[in-house]
Amino acid sequence: MVGAVDKHLALIGFMGAGKTTIGRVLARLTNRPFVDTDEEIEKRFGPIGELFEPGEPEFRRIEEQVVAEALAGATSVIALGGGAVLSEETRKRLDRTAFVVWVPVDVEHAWSRVGESGRPLARDREQFGRLYDERASLYQRVAEGQGEDVQSLLLASLGIGSSIRLPGSAALIVDERVAALHELELSPATTHVVPSGEDAKTLTVVERVWSELGIGRDGWIVGFGGGSTTDVAGFVAATHLRGVRWVAVPTTLVGMVDAAIGGKTGINTEDGKNLAGAFHFPEQVLIEPRFLSTLPAEERRAGMSEVVKTGLLAGSAIWELPETELIRACAAFEAGSGYEVRHGDAVALGLIAALRLSGRPTDVVEEVLAPELVRVDRDRAWDALLRDKKGKFRLVLLGNDGGYVTDVPERDVKRALDELIAD
Ligand code: S3P
Repeated sequence: MVGAVDKHLALIGFMGAGKTTIGRVLARLTNRPFVDTDEEIEKRFGPIGELFEPGEPEFRRIEEQVVAEALAGATSVIALGGGAVLSEETRKRLDRTAFVVWVPVDVEHAWSRVGESGRPLARDREQFGRLYDERASLYQRVAEGQGEDVQSLLLASLGIGSSIRLPGSAALIVDERVAALHELELSPATTHVVPSGEDAKTLTVVERVWSELGIGRDGWIVGFGGGSTTDVAGFVAATHLRGVRWVAVPTTLVGMVDAAIGGKTGINTEDGKNLAGAFHFPEQVLIEPRFLSTLPAEERRAGMSEVVKTGLLAGSAIWELPETELIRACAAFEAGSGYEVRHGDAVALGLIAALRLSGRPTDVVEEVLAPELVRVDRDRAWDALLRDKKGKFRLVLLGNDGGYVTDVPERDVKRALDELIAD
């Protein structure tokens, strides 16, 4: 499995890096339990200062045991004490069971945070500095990703970043329009061009690519294009030789903030959209806002709807951020929800609004899906919706014979939105 999906997310780094504070937030966002191994040690064995009294090895023995137990437990976010990775046993266990991220900190900052804290190894500034220098390369070696804040670590935990590393041979699956607009330097990679948009998501295209692919089980697939291209590339990766690793390089806003993240891959069948597919997480997602420079306006608007939806769910006006930050924020939120499907909440809330506007009861959605109201500023949410819809509300409502498209008065839409927001 990729990144921290199905594995612990373990935070390592020097004293004072903020592992506990950041770890708590990461646990909340990924809906996982949080374990702080120092806290666990103190709860069970007493103050760390006293455990150091018989000598450091005694503390390390206890620490190794507590870390081993945490790693053997339910999939969690785990903040490790600064010296925990000195143990070779711990490093081996981490390698098997966790995605390890390093929270770096500069030594002055670290000292200002823990110099007075009573930690046994933070009493003398010079000794603290020496320890810092000795450990830096160890953290770097053990970690698979790094980041100083929640957003970067969340992105790192799903391999979302701004560069790709392809250890083996690669096949590039690219949208025909995108291939003409941008170049992705990948050598040596074979290139397989697929039609733009939904036309790529057919079994005929997949069969052609399967037979053209020249990669073995250790090869990689790179999907380069919009959501349809990454859907089909991911599907080919999930099925070729029973599954090979893949990298998503989204070139649309929807792809960057949603479609390429979270491991959903698939194609359409005669019966409908995305009816054949698999969850197959990309090893890496390359987010490069420069690819958006050629994106048509209507595609950008489609992407903004996702941004507004994510902002509403996250309870923050993400849509007001500059583009690069907005993409990072949405991708991080999506990465968090990659651990637990959150999209359903948005769909359920949208269904409630649509049913209300259709004059229909909402009890089925409320009982079966039980979505929670979102916490967000009402005026900002309304402004965002107005901007997104350009002041016109052509919506799909439910009539006696199924769905129909109609213009809905602004005040009704406003009321429906208001009713989705918690006080
Ligand atoms: C230590 C770090 C501390 C704690 C102990 C030893 C170290 O944890 O485990 O004082 O060797 O770096 P934090 O990194 O959580 O402060």
